[in-house]
Amino acid sequence: MPKKSAHATWGGRFTAAPAELMLRFSESVSFDRRLAAFDIAGSKAHSAMLAKVGLISARERDAIHAGLDAILAEIEAGKFAWDTKHEDVHMNIEQALTQRVPAAAKLHTARSRNDQVATDMRLWFKSACAVLVERIRGAERALLTLAQQNGEVFIPGYTHLQRAQPVPVAHHLFAWIEMLDRDRTRFAEVAAKANVCPLGSGAIAGTTLPIDREFVAKALGFVDAKGRPQVTQKSMDAVADRDTFVEFATACALFGVHASRIAEDLVLWSSAEFKFIELPDAFCTGSSLMPQKKNPDSCELLRGKSARLQGNLHTLLTLTKGLPLTYNRDLQEDKPPVFDSFDQTEICAAVLAGTVTGAKFNLDRCAAAVADPALLATDLADYLVLKGVPFREAHHAVGAIVRLAEKNSVALNQLPTDEVQKVHPAFGADWVEIFDLRRALAKRTGTGMPGPAQVKKQFKRWEKRLA
Ligand code: ARG
Repeated sequence: MPKKSAHATWGGRFTAAPAELMLRFSESVSFDRRLAAFDIAGSKAHSAMLAKVGLISARERDAIHAGLDAILAEIEAGKFAWDTKHEDVHMNIEQALTQRVPAAAKLHTARSRNDQVATDMRLWFKSACAVLVERIRGAERALLTLAQQNGEVFIPGYTHLQRAQPVPVAHHLFAWIEMLDRDRTRFAEVAAKANVCPLGSGAIAGTTLPIDREFVAKALGFVDAKGRPQVTQKSMDAVADRDTFVEFATACALFGVHASRIAEDLVLWSSAEFKFIELPDAFCTGSSLMPQKKNPDSCELLRGKSARLQGNLHTLLTLTKGLPLTYNRDLQEDKPPVFDSFDQTEICAAVLAGTVTGAKFNLDRCAAAVADPALLATDLADYLVLKGVPFREAHHAVGAIVRLAEKNSVALNQLPTDEVQKVHPAFGADWVEIFDLRRALAKRTGTGMPGPAQVKKQFKRWEKRLA
C-alpha cells in the first residue's frame, strides 16, 4: 500500500503518495534526463527574468543560478542521483535544488511543466538538428571524395533494375549527395521552426504575474536573424503543439529512406552479380557458417534502420491525432521516438560515411558492364532525329536493329552498315560512331546531365558547398 505521505510537488491536494507501480509506470526521468542541460538553461533564464521583473531578488536569482550550475556539473560528471520517485527531469532537478537553495521554492513561479517541457524540447531540437546537419555533411563529403577518386569510371545507370544508359560513377554519387543535401536542408528548416519560445504559456493560459517572455526568449537564443526575440503566439497551442516533433521525425524518416536507397545500390553493386564495388571489411561481416561469405551488413542495417525511423514518425502521428487540447499526459510518450530517431540518424550518417570511405570500385567490372553498345541505343535514335526522322519512327528503327543484333548474336555496333541501312535509309556510314562512350557523354551538355563539363561543374559546386 502507498504510504500516506504527500508528493513533494503537488502534495497539498493529496492525502496519499502514488503507488510504487504508478511511479514505475509514469516516470520519464529514465529517458528525459538527457534534457537536463536544456532544462537548467531554461530555469536560469526563467529565474533571471523573475529577478528582472521583481518577483524574486537578485540574491535569490544568484543562489538559484549557483545551485543549478552545481547540479549541472554533477550531472555531467555522472554523480547526480536521479530518482524515479521524482518522476521526470524537471522535478528531479527542482528537488535537488530545493535541498540546497531555499529560494528554489520560488523557481516555479509563473511556470508549468507544460511550458517547461515544450521549451526544453525546442532547445533540444535546435541542438539535435545542428548535430545532424554536421553528420549528414560528413556523409556527403565522404561521397564526394569517392566521386573524386573515381572521376574516370563509368557504369550503367539503371531503370527497372535493367541496364539503361551509361553514366559516370560521379554522376550516380552526385545523385546520392543531392538526396542527402536536401535532408541537411530539411534539418536546418526544422531547427528554424523550433526557434520560437513557448515559456510563459504556463499550464495553458499564461499567468497573472507580470513576466517578460521576450527577455526569456532572448536569454535562451530564441531570436531571429536580427536578434529579435521569437515567442509563441497562443498559450494553448504552445503547450499542446507537437508539430516540431513530427517534422523532426519526418526529416529523420526521409533521411532514412535516402540512406536505405543508397544502401540498396551498394548491396547490389557489391554482389558477385554486379561486382562494381568492394566494400571495406571494417563495415562488413562474415558468416558463422559459410567461410567464403562477406556480407554488406552496414548497408543492410541502414535499410533496416529506416523502417525504425518510419515507425517513430508513425508513433508520433498516432500519439497526437486524437488528443483534446491542450496538454495530456500521453504527450510524455513523445520523447522516446524523437530521441531514438536522433540517435539512429546520427549513427546511420556516420556509418554511411564510413562505409563509402573505404569502398573501392572494381574498374574492370565497371568497364565491362558499360561496354555494351546497346546502352547507347537511345543515342542512335537521337542520331536519326538529327537527320530529320520523327522520334517515334527513329525509336522503332533502332528497336528493329537491336532485335536484329540479338537474332544474329552480335553486339549492336557489329552489324554491317548495309543491314542497318535496310532497316532505315537515314542511317549513314557514320552510324557506328554513336557508340563511342566518351563522345556520347560529351554531347550531354545541359544542366543536370552527366556530360563531362556538367560533371566538372558539379564537382566545383559540391567542393565549395561541402568545404
Ligand atoms: N514529464 C512530463 C512530459 O514529458 C512533463 C510535463 C508534465 N505535465 C503535467 N501536467 N503532468 O510530458
